[in-house]
Amino acid sequence: MIDKVFVPPIKIQGIKTKLVDLISENIYMEQNSTWYEPFMGSGVVGLNLAPHKAVFSDTNPYTIDLYNAIKKKKITSQIVREYLEYEGAILAQKDGEHYYYIRDRFNKKHDPLDFLFLNRSCFNGMIRFNREYKFNVPYGHKPNRFAKAYVTKIVNQVKHLENIFPENDWEFVCCPFEKTIEKAGVEDFIYCDPPYIGRHVDYYDSWDEEHEIALKNALYSSGARFMLSTWDENKYRKNEYIERIWSECYKLNKEHFYHVGANEKNRNSMMEALLMNYDPTTCNNNSTRNGRQMMITDYLKNEIAI
Ligand SMILES: C[S@@+](CC[C@H](N)C(=O)[O-])C[C@H]1O[C@@H](n2cnc3c(N)ncnc32)[C@H](O)[C@@H]1O
Repeated sequence: MIDKVFVPPIKIQGIKTKLVDLISENIYMEQNSTWYEPFMGSGVVGLNLAPHKAVFSDTNPYTIDLYNAIKKKKITSQIVREYLEYEGAILAQKDGEHYYYIRDRFNKKHDPLDFLFLNRSCFNGMIRFNREYKFNVPYGHKPNRFAKAYVTKIVNQVKHLENIFPENDWEFVCCPFEKTIEKAGVEDFIYCDPPYIGRHVDYYDSWDEEHEIALKNALYSSGARFMLSTWDENKYRKNEYIERIWSECYKLNKEHFYHVGANEKNRNSMMEALLMNYDPTTCNNNSTRNGRQMMITDYLKNEIAI
């Protein structure tokens, strides 16, 4: 178990904050091997598991740019505080007009601080780009959006990265998943969280059956142990690709509830799946991560094999 899940400064749809524990209890990683996370999004999974050596990558260059800038100390938590206080004060006066000014500026200059500002003030913390790769999420209206407590929360999230980056050998790379997976060897571990197939996605890239098959081929050719996050079923449909493409994998499930609109009663449930090319019930996982013993627990026995 992770004592307290660290939430990164970047928000993204499909963030796996609630799955970090289940993932951490079922990964099978040798000591001194490398963690590969080719769809890092916010990076919440690997950043919490904190393997000593890791390669994080994504096709969206902007989180990668932000994390590299923090790693190289070009952006510090103090710089983030000053930037958000300054821009937040103008936003409080000019509201949407200033948001759209920053959005235009970001689409011309791609400053990671502007990306952070947009990500934390846009509608629903979405990351979405148009066909010309311009960020196009509208403003998430909220009075005093960058209130003192909110700025401090973001600054603390950046501070956490500042503290953990120097302790670890981590690379952040902008590239398609194939490039990252081809670097992995049999002793390594690959965690994949691609856009959910068969569902509407608004990520930097689209995702379809061809991508899912290419991912399967890349993962099996690497010879590494892997874990893949995907959706299993909801009230209306099942993810048919699990049987079609991933039938050789082991499966763990976790139910996830999300709200549609503001009404507490409109709770929808979705069954999340973790697929693995190893049996998490029999792997004698006694490797340690930062001194912590990793154990296989909490799996749902009747859900394990498909
Ligand atoms: C579901 S999100 C990952 C969320 C992440 N696990 C988290 O918890 O924050 C999927 C990510 O895959 C990235 N992506 C989409 N297509 C890709 C591709 N072909 N290669 C690499 N990354 C891709 C998107 O930019 C997005 O960040």
